[in-house]
Amino acid sequence: MKSLPRFLCALLLPALVLLVVACSPKNAETSLPPDETSPFVGNAACEPCHAAEFTSHQKTRHMATMQEATRAGLGALAPERGQIPGGGMLSEQQGRFVINDLPLQLVLGSGKTGMTFIALADDSCTEIQTSYFPHEKLWRTTPGQEKPKAVADQVGRIVIGQEAQRCLGCHAVTLPENSLQVERRFFGVGCESCHGPGREHVATMGKGEKPAKLAIESLKGAGGEQLNTLCGSCHRTQDDVGPLSKSTNRFQPYGLSLSRCFKESKDKLTCVTCHNPHEDAGTDPKPYEKACLSCHSAPKKACPVNPKEKCVGCHMPERPAFEVGDTPTKMADHFIKIYRANR
Ligand code: HEC
Ligand code: HEC
Ligand code: HEC
Ligand code: HEC
Ligand code: HEC
Ligand code: HEC
Ligand code: HEC
Repeated sequence: MKSLPRFLCALLLPALVLLVVACSPKNAETSLPPDETSPFVGNAACEPCHAAEFTSHQKTRHMATMQEATRAGLGALAPERGQIPGGGMLSEQQGRFVINDLPLQLVLGSGKTGMTFIALADDSCTEIQTSYFPHEKLWRTTPGQEKPKAVADQVGRIVIGQEAQRCLGCHAVTLPENSLQVERRFFGVGCESCHGPGREHVATMGKGEKPAKLAIESLKGAGGEQLNTLCGSCHRTQDDVGPLSKSTNRFQPYGLSLSRCFKESKDKLTCVTCHNPHEDAGTDPKPYEKACLSCHSAPKKACPVNPKEKCVGCHMPERPAFEVGDTPTKMADHFIKIYRANR
């Protein structure tokens, strides 16, 4: 409740008496004052001392996975106004997108494939029923909303309580307690999503003396189990999907954990063996092949079919991420194994 942005207050105040309490004069004057009680500080606080990590992270889809639902914020990814096929009328009010009469605040998804618009309320949000695919300039049913709507004039699924917190929580660094109003500096997967809260580290390092402790998660040399759990808090582990899920390609920590490569390499195979955590997934196959060959080289463990190259296409094939619906997203299966023709 405590950190409603100004535009929301302006729109809702006449209707919702309750909100008067939330819009204290302090919040109404400045944009959003930093919450000094939060142990999180935001990426910008890391830049002065870790410029290299900051600069490369800034360009990632992790960074862009939560955006403001404004034309200016979305830039080239912004959709055209007008009737959305099967999904209401998209318009703009002062640069902010609106569906029918519902103002939209956030967009989830970097635009690599699909982006889903979100309308925020106090302790719930509406996940709009059609998602936008900017590279094709197409709208498609949002995954999970394939079933006919219960209420005809509803523009999407209303997500409440814990589920709403989780939905935004996987696309942001931290949320205020009991509120869905994410501060701008916490948009997207940030440094502190992986390294943990940074306030104490920043304060300690700022003093310039050799500190007794780092006061942040280093993650350097972290093992396979630790990173599967960390990355899996968003990308999902076996605990989230159940033992019989076929989604080994959509949920990489889950897929990887089933692989003999993972199980039989004594915690050495991690997400970071193949990915730089401060960059997007590379699309050049060579570095991945190099990683495979670091464990599978002649004479002993080489591939009888192709010992040199093209490993990924055969042992981590790309498959559609969603089993139902028409979302075209494809992902590399992280269950590394021998795929026979009929699977
Ligand atoms: C005032 C400078 C300063 C700021 C600001 C700062 N750090 Fe650091 N950080 C350091 C120093 C110095 C080290 C220790 C480097 C070493 O021992 O090699 C360090 C170490 C780290 C490490 C461990 C690296 C390793 O080699 O194990 C991580 C991770 C890290 N910082 C993340 C962050 C994050 C995230 C932020 C922002 C929330 C941040 N730092 C802000 C100075 C800073
Ligand atoms: C706080 C949640 C969260 C955590 C923790 C997290 N991720 Fe992600 N990750 C995401 C989201 C959300 C996306 C989707 C970005 C988008 O919208 O395209 C993503 C996308 C990615 C991508 C794809 C980028 C591309 O090229 O399209 C890679 C690779 C990735 N994450 C690796 C990791 C690894 C490795 C870790 C752990 C070291 C990790 N992630 C931890 C939420 C998270
Ligand atoms: C447990 C963490 C988690 C939760 C909860 C979560 N997401 Fe995500 N989301 C991810 C990750 C990780 C990715 C990237 C990989 C993927 O598509 O699975 C992602 C990707 C996306 C994408 C981009 C899909 C694409 O095809 O590029 C959208 C849009 C999205 N999420 C919207 C939402 C919405 C809306 C909610 C809540 C109703 C939500 N997410 C809940 C973790 C999460
Ligand atoms: C998706 C998770 C993730 C995010 C986001 C992330 N890091 Fe990291 N970071 C890691 C992991 C994992 C390692 C260990 C890499 C390794 O072992 O090679 C690491 C390593 C580091 C190191 C040590 C680098 C070295 O080799 O000495 C620093 C410093 C650091 N991160 C700072 C940052 C800063 C600053 C940000 C934000 C701008 C950030 N990280 C964002 C996961 C992440
Ligand atoms: C950290 C070491 C490591 C890396 C990196 C690695 N693997 Fe493995 N992989 C293993 C181990 C250990 C086994 C168990 C069998 C063995 O010892 O040869 C294995 C088994 C396999 C198998 C047999 C699977 C089965 O179910 O019988 C295939 C296929 C395979 N790996 C392919 C790959 C490919 C392709 C890559 C790169 C994308 C890769 N591996 C990366 C360690 C690794
Ligand atoms: C053995 C190498 C390897 C390991 C280990 C690995 N990945 Fe990947 N990852 C890949 C390859 C190959 C791709 C496909 C890249 C492309 O699009 O060409 C990929 C792509 C991704 C993507 C983007 C979705 C897609 O398929 O395009 C995400 C997200 C991702 N990985 C997350 C993770 C996470 C999280 C971990 C640790 C649990 C992990 N990866 C471990 C090789 C690996
Ligand atoms: C054209 C598809 C294809 C390519 C490319 C390919 N593999 Fe294979 N690989 C297979 C098949 C099929 C098998 C099973 C062979 C058999 O058992 O008859 C296999 C078996 C394996 C095995 C198990 C070997 C054993 O002794 O059980 C490993 C490890 C492996 N591949 C790794 C790799 C690596 C690493 C690369 C890249 C350098 C690679 N593969 C490239 C199709 C391929």
